[in-house]
Amino acid sequence: MLFPDYRARRLRETPNFRRMIRETTLLVDDLILPLFAVTGKGIKKPIASMPGQFHLSCDMLVKTVKEAHDLGIPAVMLFGLPDKKDSLGTGAYAESGIVQQAIKAVKDAVPDIAVLTDVCLCQYTDHGHCGMIQDGRIDNDSSLDLLARVALSHARAGADMVAPSDMMDGRVGEIRQTLDEEGFSNTPIMSYAVKYASAFYGPFRDAVSSAPKFGDRKTYQMDPGNAIEAIREATMDIEEGADIIMVKPALSYLDIINRLKDEIDLPIAAYSVSGEYAMIKAAEIMGWIDGQKVVMETLLSIKRAGADMILTYSAIEAAKAINSREY
Ligand code: PBG
Repeated sequence: MLFPDYRARRLRETPNFRRMIRETTLLVDDLILPLFAVTGKGIKKPIASMPGQFHLSCDMLVKTVKEAHDLGIPAVMLFGLPDKKDSLGTGAYAESGIVQQAIKAVKDAVPDIAVLTDVCLCQYTDHGHCGMIQDGRIDNDSSLDLLARVALSHARAGADMVAPSDMMDGRVGEIRQTLDEEGFSNTPIMSYAVKYASAFYGPFRDAVSSAPKFGDRKTYQMDPGNAIEAIREATMDIEEGADIIMVKPALSYLDIINRLKDEIDLPIAAYSVSGEYAMIKAAEIMGWIDGQKVVMETLLSIKRAGADMILTYSAIEAAKAINSREY
């Protein structure tokens, strides 16, 4: 069909037509809000590298969770900043650790929101790596037991879903087995299955001071050049018992999200990470872009690529825009 029989502009003419033919719609249901918990009371400390995001003590965190819940956001993802770090990351699986406290506080105050937790060691280890160090290397197998302990401690504290982000091989299977043995066979695992060794995590690492003290994360996170390997990573985690497969970061990896959508039959989560957030905020603060519009366009593109849910630091502003039909 060639011009003038087909005129694409006919159906772009009015807002109603545009609404009627829109192929992808962003819903508040799609959003997951990541939050950073710290010890103490009354603390709401701005994170310099992520304008609009805060370190929150449990009482303040609960307020933000309430706001998210009132807007209809179905889930939050909790990260913790421990007071002390050590070589074994013991703060990550301590019964009264910061995330464990935050889970309880949120489940007490806002029982209806789903509490997801990031399962990792890097914020809790003094060397800043996501696994154990042996002979100067990040040792895979000795890390698995600790990661499973972290996941179990979160489940015991009341987490509705656990999300391992460490990228050790075999950790989903180990966590699944531990949860099953300890009476948490109904607790789902969202696996950070396809997590790239990305410079886009920079602002997050500043926010939680989790940058590795030596080396980098390239021996466990994926090479940004690889796409077929993403299918292998996802398939492996599905076989080990993952319930949701995550791709991270999102914006530079839309092709990966799209490819996985075709290749796997589990729900796909995409994590629009700190660097993506910071870039938009920085340009917005400079007055160079309309931040809110750019946020909505990027979230829509991530959903269009195939994500069923999106972890985004902009979840609250996005939910407000969706609820007032401003996008
Ligand atoms: C922990 C973890 C990281 C992020 C989520 N979980 C950092 C990393 O892998 O270095 C990044 C989140 C973000 O940048 O928003 N392993």
